[in-house]
Amino acid sequence: MRFDNRPIGVFDSGIGGLTVTRLIRQQIPGENILYIGDTAHLPYGDKPVPELMWLARRLMDFLAEHQAKVIVAACNTSSSVSIDLLRDRYSVPIIGVVKPGVRAAVRASRNRRIGVLATEATARSSAYRREILALEGNAMVWEVACPGLVPVVEAGRMEDPEVRKLISSYLQVPLENQADTIILGCTHYPYLRPVIEEVTGGEPNIIDPAVETVNELKQTLDHLQGYANRDTGSARFFATGPIDSFINVGSRFYGNDLREIENVDI
Ligand code: DGL
Repeated sequence: MRFDNRPIGVFDSGIGGLTVTRLIRQQIPGENILYIGDTAHLPYGDKPVPELMWLARRLMDFLAEHQAKVIVAACNTSSSVSIDLLRDRYSVPIIGVVKPGVRAAVRASRNRRIGVLATEATARSSAYRREILALEGNAMVWEVACPGLVPVVEAGRMEDPEVRKLISSYLQVPLENQADTIILGCTHYPYLRPVIEEVTGGEPNIIDPAVETVNELKQTLDHLQGYANRDTGSARFFATGPIDSFINVGSRFYGNDLREIENVDI
């Protein structure tokens, strides 16, 4: 049996990828994790595709230089617009979040009506629609761009009354159309899950792609015989810009490990 003690790399624009990282730590605690949040360029959702590709490559270079054995693009925006290009350019296996989220949603939906809450760039790319239709040709899909939600999460203002109003307006069309499944198509949105569930009244399935993403990560490590041979790994966190939300908001979700975050210029 082979093993690989190099770290798993994870990237996002900010604290969104922590929603995936927390699950990796819970499910495969022996692994070391290297996390980078590109807070100098947050939010990603309103940026044009060429810029998003350039941003993703810097993060990939950083994680590859740090010997990541597999990289999780824990950002729907990057996954939607750049994953094919990244897979062409880098030899390290890359796990995105869109396909796993779609698999989970298609499995959960009974009426094949699926809503996707996402950033503007993700919604514009139609990546979710494409992947859903590839698995379920008869599905109806509403991809809703949700400007404003990422800054709200980064600022830790999840409980503001305005946020509830914003979320109600974003969910209106999918809910009016009886969508029975809503995908949280941005890794920041699980922070808003309590408000989203309040607005939906617990009716539709709420899909956090993190769950299936971590399943795919485990399958990849199985396939590569790439698990670490230790019981307890560690996590290192880097940010390219401000670290306040990592410490204040991220640690509410993730726990105290985040106090050790390092600033990095890439
Ligand atoms: N958390 C990211 C995503 O899943 C990025 C959001 C942003 O920076 O706009 O899309």
